[in-house]
Parts: sequence; structure tokens; C-alpha cells
Amino acid sequence: MERLTLDYLPREVLAKLDLETTFMASRLVIEAERLQVFRKLQNKKLSADKIESILNIHPRYLIFFLNALVSLGLLHKKDDVYWNSHLTEKFFIQERSIYWTRQFSTEGVENFRRFANLEKVLVSGKDYREVMKQEPQSYIEEFHKDPKQAEDFTYMLYYYHQQDAQALAQHLDLRDFRKVLDVGGGSGVMSITLVKQYPHLCASILEIEPVCKTAQQIIHQQGLTKHINTIVGNMNEDLPIGYDVIMFCDIGSVEENLLKKAYNRLPRNGMVVLVDRYLSEERTDPLDSILHQFIGSSFPIETHEEMVDQLHICGFKNILKKNIYKDVWMITGRT
Ligand SMILES: C[S@@+](CC[C@H](N)C(=O)[O-])C[C@H]1O[C@@H](n2cnc3c(N)ncnc32)[C@H](O)[C@@H]1O
Repeated sequence: MERLTLDYLPREVLAKLDLETTFMASRLVIEAERLQVFRKLQNKKLSADKIESILNIHPRYLIFFLNALVSLGLLHKKDDVYWNSHLTEKFFIQERSIYWTRQFSTEGVENFRRFANLEKVLVSGKDYREVMKQEPQSYIEEFHKDPKQAEDFTYMLYYYHQQDAQALAQHLDLRDFRKVLDVGGGSGVMSITLVKQYPHLCASILEIEPVCKTAQQIIHQQGLTKHINTIVGNMNEDLPIGYDVIMFCDIGSVEENLLKKAYNRLPRNGMVVLVDRYLSEERTDPLDSILHQFIGSSFPIETHEEMVDQLHICGFKNILKKNIYKDVWMITGRT
């Protein structure tokens, strides 16, 4: 999935965007996504009156809201009629699924709230939840409480990780392996792509229960139920045996004891595969991973070289690392 980075915006729009304006403009675009403005205008030209009747925006702000989106190059306007620009049709409709629109905009609103507390976080050194007096909640608790969110999140990642999965299938040679354990495998996007590339493979997605349900739907839609199954489990408790490849893809920091467990569960000549957006040597990239550290990120805090060292410490041999797509690194080790 291609994301709308600022370099896609027309020059005259970029020229208006100093850093402070960008912060407010981003929040406005996130709100447009929350209200699904672009989806409601897809292939349509609608008057402000008509838009007012389908969007829940007070007349006091409606025209300002729509005109700001015109100013950003996301809508066009003639008299009082509005429609999506080509940029919008490409990035907000064609490139993203409805799950992305819903989930990402929900997370976007929450992230803005968290960033409002940045000063307190920076000064106190506390976690943003402590500063905001929120109870720490794990993934598992959140998804059990709200299975709809688990579904949106899982489908969102299924679309979002397509290119990462293609890159993995292109760079990971699994001709000599038979069974893959995809730990925290989410939608199964990585396993699905690997099984399509290597039809002799079988894979199991180890996941929490609400995510397993969505993964099963996707595996079924892809016609791969004979090759891929789901296992309800908790990676922090145990890992099953019987696999010659154990993968950890985009699950944040993989702790030493989990890697040691993986080492002990693999047969001789088995393989561990790590795929994530590890930090650069100077820890100055990827920028969004760094920014998320202030608001409760689950992105890894290790550099790719530190993960190589971790694999060595846990006993793995023949360790290889490769930058496979944009900021995404693949690191493999053998038992
Ligand atoms: C960012 S997603 C990545 C999903 C998938 N690997 C991918 O590349 O698209 C992280 C996944 O880890 C799962 N997860 C988090 N904690 C877990 C745990 N303790 N046991 C099993 N799965 C867990 C989450 O449910 C989520 O689906």
C-alpha cells in the first residue's frame, strides 16, 4: 500500500505547509477519514447542502472544513459543488481498504491526544498512559474487549503488509523447509504469500483468539485452508514444536527469552526469521518509529545490528541480514 507522503502534494500546496500548519492539517485530514468524506464523495460531485445532509458537521464549520480540504488539494470546488481530486481518489480510495480508513483514523485521533501530553512525558520520563492517568492495557485485553477493533486492525494489516510480504517471499529461500510457525502472524499475510510462493509449505499462525477468527476468514478467502491453520495461544507463554521455521514478523521487540525458546523448539538446521523495521545504526530512522516511542509504541527499539547480536547470543548460526523493502529488514539464523 502506498501512503500519501508530502512529496506527492502539488508544489503550491506544499508551499502553504509550514510545520505548525502541517500538524493541524494532519488532524483535519484524519477527521475527514473518520467521517469518511472521501469515500462518500467517491465518483460524485456534491453540493455543500447535500454534503451537509450526509456528514454530521455543523453548518458553522462545514464550509471551512470542505474549503480547507480544497486548499490542501484533496478536494476540488466549483461554486458550491465539491469532488475528490485525483490525489484523493488514488491515495484515500484506491490505495487503502475501508479497514485502513477506519482503524488508522481511529489510531490517528488517539495519537494526537497522546501527543498533547508530550511535554509532561518528556519532563517526567513517564509512560504517556501514566501521565494521562490511563490504565495500561495490553493488546490482548483491548482486542478481547472490542473484537470489531481486532477485525479492523487485522484486515488493515493484511492490506498494509502486502508489499512487505512480497519482499519477504522474494528474499527468503524456503525450498528446503516444510513447516512454518508464524508467531503473532496476525492476518496471516506473510504466511499466505510464502505458501503461494512455495506451495509445498504448511504454516500455522500463532495468535490471540479474536485475531485468529479474522485470519481464518482471510485464509478461507484465499483458498489456503489446507496449507495454513491458526493456533490460539500466547507467545509469552509457550511455542509449539514440530516446525522447521519460526518467524517473528512486525511484532515489535523480540525479547531474548523468546528467541531462546524459538532456538530450543527448532530442530537441527532449523531457521528463525525476524522481519521488522529495526532502527538504523545511528537510531535516526525510521522517523515514524522514533516518533511513536513517545506515545506507547510497539515498534522495536533495537537496531538491526543489535538483533544480529541477539541471535548470536541465543545460539543461532549463519546469521544473515538484509534490507528487503523500504525500512523493512529481514534477519535469519540457523540452529
Ligand atoms: C503488528 S501485528 C503483526 C502481524 C503480522 N505478523 C504481520 O506481519 O502482518 C502484531 C501481532 O502480534 C499479535 N500479538 C501480540 N501479542 C501477542 C501474544 N502475546 N501472543 C500472540 N500474538 C500476539 C497481535 O495480536 C498482532 O496481530
